[in-house]
Amino acid sequence: MHNEDQLIAAARAARENAHAPFSKFLVGAAVHGKSGRIFAGCNVENASYGLTMCAERVAIFKAISEGEHEFDAIAVVTDADALTPPCGACRQIIWEFCGDVPVILANLKGKTERERSLNLLPRPFDSSHL
Ligand code: THU
Repeated sequence: MHNEDQLIAAARAARENAHAPFSKFLVGAAVHGKSGRIFAGCNVENASYGLTMCAERVAIFKAISEGEHEFDAIAVVTDADALTPPCGACRQIIWEFCGDVPVILANLKGKTERERSLNLLPRPFDSSHL
């Protein structure tokens, strides 16, 4: 079982490493693996803009590359008053790699909200359709 505060803290720490010189919008994310390990990521922008990688996908891909394949929660932290939900591309990746998990949104002031990934991406496309 994941500890929400721990997951938010990991996402918040990763946010400090965000490479966002273009948008200046710093994002941190952290996924909790069923082994108990937490993997965190930040957004990484680049000069061509379109190759930007969101914090959520960095966290999930880091976990996959380290051999973690099952997850039970993901947290996303920004400094926005209106909490930041994952973009469409990240919703797809969250669904495919994490399934229907709690997506915990938080900001630096301690505001939090939770939404299940299936509510964020209803009727998702995935390998079951192939
Ligand atoms: N971004 C994320 O990392 N995750 C989100 O959930 C929303 C958007 C990043 C992408 C880009 O670096 C910046 O935030 C502005 O869109």
